[in-house]
Amino acid sequence: MLNSLQKKWKVNGAQFVLILCTFAVTGTLTAFISRSITSWLGFDEFTPLFWKVLVRLSVLVFGYQVIILIVSFIFGQFRFFWNYEKKILKRMGFINKTKEVVKPYRLAIFASGKGSNAEKIIQYFDKEPLIQVKLIVCNKAGAGVLDIAKAWNIETLLIEKNAFIESNQYVKHLENEGITHIILAGFLWKIPQTLIKAYPNKILNIHPALLPNFGGKGMYGEKVHQSVIAAGDKESGITIHLVDEHYDHGKTIFQVKTEITSVDTPDTLAEKIHILEHEHYPKVIEEWLGAE
Ligand code: GAR
Repeated sequence: MLNSLQKKWKVNGAQFVLILCTFAVTGTLTAFISRSITSWLGFDEFTPLFWKVLVRLSVLVFGYQVIILIVSFIFGQFRFFWNYEKKILKRMGFINKTKEVVKPYRLAIFASGKGSNAEKIIQYFDKEPLIQVKLIVCNKAGAGVLDIAKAWNIETLLIEKNAFIESNQYVKHLENEGITHIILAGFLWKIPQTLIKAYPNKILNIHPALLPNFGGKGMYGEKVHQSVIAAGDKESGITIHLVDEHYDHGKTIFQVKTEITSVDTPDTLAEKIHILEHEHYPKVIEEWLGAE
């Protein structure tokens, strides 16, 4: 049962434990606060049942929602519980349910290479009606990501450098396709200003190192791992960040580290990094969209 819950929530083992701790602490704290309030109000056996029930219910229904967010923050699980809260508020009728139903997020993934990250993202959102991967944008004919798009029956757009940098024809294409957000997954060209303006804070990139180190022009894939190993660093990791007009520069929204041992090579480090990317990128995208 715990396993199926973990799968349903799409979280790893450590996160799952922290989520359960959040629920447990919140439950205890809410009961304690509810008792403290009724005793502070001077409730006793002569207080009408109506008032007792009203106060207890108010704390349980409304106080609980606030307390759980505070506790989740302490356990580092705020994003998960904020999404959870939004679902509850929707059920209670405080948030308009129809908004998301009629307007799903429509993602375009920009990728230039093998596309293993693109595939994980496609897989992850495959059965999610509110987050749909609608387009794969690629600058390299024959890139592996195009085969992945074909296998998943996703439309592709092969782009040309001058037009990408100097015109807004692709921006128009994306807008015509109703693309709401852009996910860079191994895309190596700099994103032009026109695209950033059309999608402000709606473009996400993944970088295979701990930015601000080992980023910038020319730092991609293999080259990043070679530089990290050559520098003798004892750890590397992944960075997921918003895209601005500079290479690998916008606001970081997620980082996770991995250890580098004395036997690691650029290839083994690349494998470790890919594992981290595949595990985290889809979830971070989901949380990022959910937090909007
Ligand atoms: C990923 O490791 C990604 O972080 C990196 O390219 C790889 C693409 O792999 N991106 C950059 O280096 C961007 N500066 P994939 O094609 O197997 O998803």
